[in-house]
Amino acid sequence: MTMTYKNSNQQTSLDTERDTSHRLLLQKADASIRQALPTVSDTHRLHYHLMPQAHWMNDPNGLAYYRGYYHVFYQHHPYSSDWGPMHWGHARTKDFITWEHLPIALAPSEDYDADGCFSGSAVVEGDLLHLFYTGHRVIDGELIQVQCKATSSDGIHLIKDRRNPLITSFPSDGSPDFRDPKVWRHHGSWYMVLGSGRDGRGNVLLYKSQDLTQWEYVGVLAHSDGTQGTIWECPDLFPLGDRHVLLISPMGVKDRRVMYFVGDMDYDVGKFTPEYVGTLDYGPDFYAVQTFSGTERRLMLAWMDAWECDIPSKKDNWAGALTLPRELVLDESGKLRAQPLPELQKLRQRSISVARSFVVEKDQSMPLTDLQDACLELNLVLALNSSTASHFTLCFCYTESSEQILIRYNKATGELYLDTSKIHVGQPGLYKAALHPPGERLELRIFLDRSSIEVFANQGEATITARIYPRSQTTIPRVFALDGQIKVKSLECWNLAK
Ligand code: FRU
Repeated sequence: MTMTYKNSNQQTSLDTERDTSHRLLLQKADASIRQALPTVSDTHRLHYHLMPQAHWMNDPNGLAYYRGYYHVFYQHHPYSSDWGPMHWGHARTKDFITWEHLPIALAPSEDYDADGCFSGSAVVEGDLLHLFYTGHRVIDGELIQVQCKATSSDGIHLIKDRRNPLITSFPSDGSPDFRDPKVWRHHGSWYMVLGSGRDGRGNVLLYKSQDLTQWEYVGVLAHSDGTQGTIWECPDLFPLGDRHVLLISPMGVKDRRVMYFVGDMDYDVGKFTPEYVGTLDYGPDFYAVQTFSGTERRLMLAWMDAWECDIPSKKDNWAGALTLPRELVLDESGKLRAQPLPELQKLRQRSISVARSFVVEKDQSMPLTDLQDACLELNLVLALNSSTASHFTLCFCYTESSEQILIRYNKATGELYLDTSKIHVGQPGLYKAALHPPGERLELRIFLDRSSIEVFANQGEATITARIYPRSQTTIPRVFALDGQIKVKSLECWNLAK
């Protein structure tokens, strides 16, 4: 066998060539987006959510606070509004209100990521921002997924690591589905979790490193009990209060709702012991969630769409958006709550608020505001103990089409429903969240953007997120009381900045 050695000058010129070819591919991708901009139709564009300027977006990636900005990268296909060879799109914000779109950060440019730069995360080390991502290839129908790093000193331009791929194959506990590195630091060492699965059970694999480059396999951090999915994608593990929380996005289950586990992490043996499992959001359009690194608060974003569903905005040359930023906290019962960030109050414009309580009489319907804007925040508190109605319904009744979105609460069972079946375009559905046990009050905080709805019940005890594609831009929120009266304790409503 003959071996060839490159001297350091040769190596450097090869590296420069690679960086140049990556840069050219990024420029080409940016040019494709620029060219598509005039063709993007406004019809379903959101007003206060992050979405691609044009073409396809899926998972949030590389969420990190770095040099005064919250950086948000995302899975992006800059050449069409369908999923394709994945790039990393990039935007940043200082306040989650104003977003700045930045040049595309990563493009497939090497053998090891030839078919896509798949999802991953970011950490800050000293002055540098390191992105970890999965290099994806399909050769003769076989998946080859490896773990890679790219580094930036300005938060905009990324250089892929010469030593990539840093993890070249899956361990025997995993399978070829081996992806979505989430990296963090704990007691002076670096840790990485990866999503995978084995024998029909999704799992999370743990790695450890001292220098972010050489990674040693520790073992299976957590796995499905056999009913929780065949492959786990986009794992995220972090401390919250005195517990640890694991988030995963499952494949191989009917609804693919993001699951969270609250439990304890034992770093000595590399095992997470779950104690409580819950659903992070009950809506159809909430997936591949990730939390930020480098922040005091545990902030998260999710992809506000879903696999294998119709996305009507594709015909307008864009697809995909991210949820509102939400903060995760543990409540006194040890369950996870997700709340919209307080920063979002800056979006509020004209308001109507009803300070005193009022009653909606039996079998009556009452309009709540005259704002008529389909871009709004509505906060409603019901006094359940002084309401006799069996059901309460909040309807967003669109005025120029006969479409409706219904939010229904069953007082006896504590079940909350979002019903999008009376919207004519897009995926109709009925989504249920259980609020247990039915309490004295029901608090609903609802964010409606042009083509999205996010419902936060009882301060984030349950959330339901969905994309909706009504034809009309004006809506009147109305409440209905069935079989009895409803006491509304307070009502506030704002139209939000566009
Ligand atoms: C999750 C996911 C990830 C993968 C990415 C590809 O939505 O399937 O596992 O890295 O999307 O775009």
